[in-house]
Amino acid sequence: MVIVVCPKCARKHKVNIDLIKVHIDSGKNVSATCRSCKFKFPVLIDQLHDSPDEKEDYRAKTRKICVTLSKGGVGKTTTSVNLGAGLALAGYKVLLVDTDTQGQSSYILGKKPTAGLTELLTKELTPEECVVNARKNLWILGGGKSLAGVKRIIDRKSFGAEWTLAEAMKPLESQYDFILIDTSPGWDQLIVNVLFYATEVLVPVALEVMPLHGLSEFMKSLGSIQKYRKEISLKYIVPTFLDTRIKGPQTLYSELKKLYPEYVCSPIRYSESLSEAPSFGKSIFEFAPGSIASADYRALVRKVTMDDTALV
Ligand SMILES: Nc1ncnc2c1ncn2[C@@H]1O[C@H](COP(=O)(O)OP(=O)(O)O)[C@@H](O)[C@H]1O
Ligand SMILES: [Mg+2]
Repeated sequence: MVIVVCPKCARKHKVNIDLIKVHIDSGKNVSATCRSCKFKFPVLIDQLHDSPDEKEDYRAKTRKICVTLSKGGVGKTTTSVNLGAGLALAGYKVLLVDTDTQGQSSYILGKKPTAGLTELLTKELTPEECVVNARKNLWILGGGKSLAGVKRIIDRKSFGAEWTLAEAMKPLESQYDFILIDTSPGWDQLIVNVLFYATEVLVPVALEVMPLHGLSEFMKSLGSIQKYRKEISLKYIVPTFLDTRIKGPQTLYSELKKLYPEYVCSPIRYSESLSEAPSFGKSIFEFAPGSIASADYRALVRKVTMDDTALV
């Protein structure tokens, strides 16, 4: 097996080398069509990479995705928890990091951790002691009120304050395929720390009033971080609260697609199940596996893993 990388969407495809070699050896041009973005491109023999052992590859590259937007109530926590739960169900090892003082991520998954991010940042406990197992393949580094004190500690640092989270997370990183970081609304030192740690940004945008304003404000803030940290980039814009019965949200969705075609994912529709699931301590896949919300989050899992067969 070899890996062919799509030059357009960067998706990696495993291909049987023998099938390609027959054509290349006979002097024919070989072209491929990306299964993900449908882009057609020529395949050259020197661009083929040996396929590494899949597990080794995942372990070598922990993906660090933060879910963020300054506005509250746009579906950050709902998306972090359900994307995390979906990735875990798809077989990936996931650490969900809650950087919000409300500590809702743990609550939604029916957990009450006694330690979490605060103890990790203050080094009161070892990294392993701070993490709680929530489901098969899913762990939580809980947030909560105590994070307010941590923010003050970060604020008082005379230099290197923005790297506090990144330094603290290092010992944990290699054990996971995905680290998903849920953030609080607003803009503070902890969010700056998250943006100095994550490499990918997922922005949920509620298709309600003025969503585009919040998004363009956020883009400016992200731009100012990128001047100092090149590794971070916007990867996904996830439209949320799409109410298909009324026209307004549909129009906003089309507008969003026109403005940011390369980032906009398929939307998460408005669903009562999503607001009900948390009080049962369940992810959407456990609470209402047949719901539209479950289907929408499953689609997001496939988008993020670049695997159309995940959770089939
Ligand atoms: N697609 C949706 N349909 C209906 N309710 C939703 C949807 N997404 C989130 N909710 C509910 O909306 C509220 C705000 O969502 P939340 O994820 O907490 O936003 P944030 O973390 O950005 O503040 C919660 O009560 C949540 O259950
Ligand atoms: Mg939240």
